[in-house]
Amino acid sequence: MSSLPKLQQIPAEIAAVADYQAFARERMTPEAWAYLAGGAADEQTLADNLAAFQRVRLLNRVMEDLGGGHTRLRLCGLELDYPILLAPVAFQKLAHPDGELASVLGASAMGAAMVVSTQASVSLEAIAQAAQTPLWFQLYIQPDREFTRELVRRAEAAGYRALVVTVDAPVNGLRNREQRAAFAFPEGVEAVNLKGMRSLPPSVARPGASPLFGSPLLEHAPTWKDLEWLQSLTRLPVLVKGVMNPRDAVRAVEAGVAGIVVSNHGGRTLDGLPATLDVLPAVARAVEGKVPLLLDGGIRRGTDVFKALALGADAVMIGRPYVHGLATAGASGVAHVLHLLRTELEVAMALTGCASLADIDASLIWREGHLDAR
Ligand code: GLV
Repeated sequence: MSSLPKLQQIPAEIAAVADYQAFARERMTPEAWAYLAGGAADEQTLADNLAAFQRVRLLNRVMEDLGGGHTRLRLCGLELDYPILLAPVAFQKLAHPDGELASVLGASAMGAAMVVSTQASVSLEAIAQAAQTPLWFQLYIQPDREFTRELVRRAEAAGYRALVVTVDAPVNGLRNREQRAAFAFPEGVEAVNLKGMRSLPPSVARPGASPLFGSPLLEHAPTWKDLEWLQSLTRLPVLVKGVMNPRDAVRAVEAGVAGIVVSNHGGRTLDGLPATLDVLPAVARAVEGKVPLLLDGGIRRGTDVFKALALGADAVMIGRPYVHGLATAGASGVAHVLHLLRTELEVAMALTGCASLADIDASLIWREGHLDAR
């Protein structure tokens, strides 16, 4: 019989989500830390995701009626108490021996929805069994399409409520920090959900030949047609994650997706992309409210959640911050990270005169000249 994850103590010094980072780093191996914390290449995009939130300032309103206030929302068929979800993060056993089981317990304690990674280090069925909160399943359209079909069937059978297809990584980003740390998976940490998947024949490296083009990986890279195929396999809502370009957002809406996650994969795929917060307004304009928009990348404060909502998101997902909580204090750490962000969001709403998420809009973002123009 598998034993339940133990409840761990939260270090008393922790007052904010960012405080978890140093504790997490201490508790993880340098190699695993390089994997979790690192981004692609020079990590410009990784840094920019955070910096973009720092650049935005708020403009408050006072003495609005806050009676009956709440942070509830409907999102792709879910009724959520607040607009913060756990993003898909792979291999959580790198952070804590209980891995995704502890995360889902933390999410359940806080009533937050969790998006489970295809590359989870615990089976999607075991996570679903432990969950007392709605789950979505993240997947890639794998070169082995039959295996992809089977994953969809398994996710449906286990009770996942939506599929989130990651579309920004037909190839892995070049993770130099990971390479420098010689990251390799330790014993017992693997993508258990992908066992049995047919792997592609290895590319034959010929001197002078293209390292990637012509390789089986790119020959099988998913296209918009494959998204249509995936949608035809399931009655679950299908969201796409990894959209940055407003043109792609329009295309995704036309393809009938249930939602779009504005994401640059936490700065882990193409270095040099802008921050997600910076492209969000243009994506929101392109989408015209036709489908819900989520954003991930750089959220460390409830005011960051507020800023994302003000600039066009319906909800946000957090990734590294909850894994820092996980590494530090298991399920309690994950729950605490959610609690901190939720509290900060509510404080920000109260201090800007917002009684509900619908009141959060761009008029509460301060800009040079903003006041003159009004
Ligand atoms: C997986 O998607 C990763 O970014 O490591």
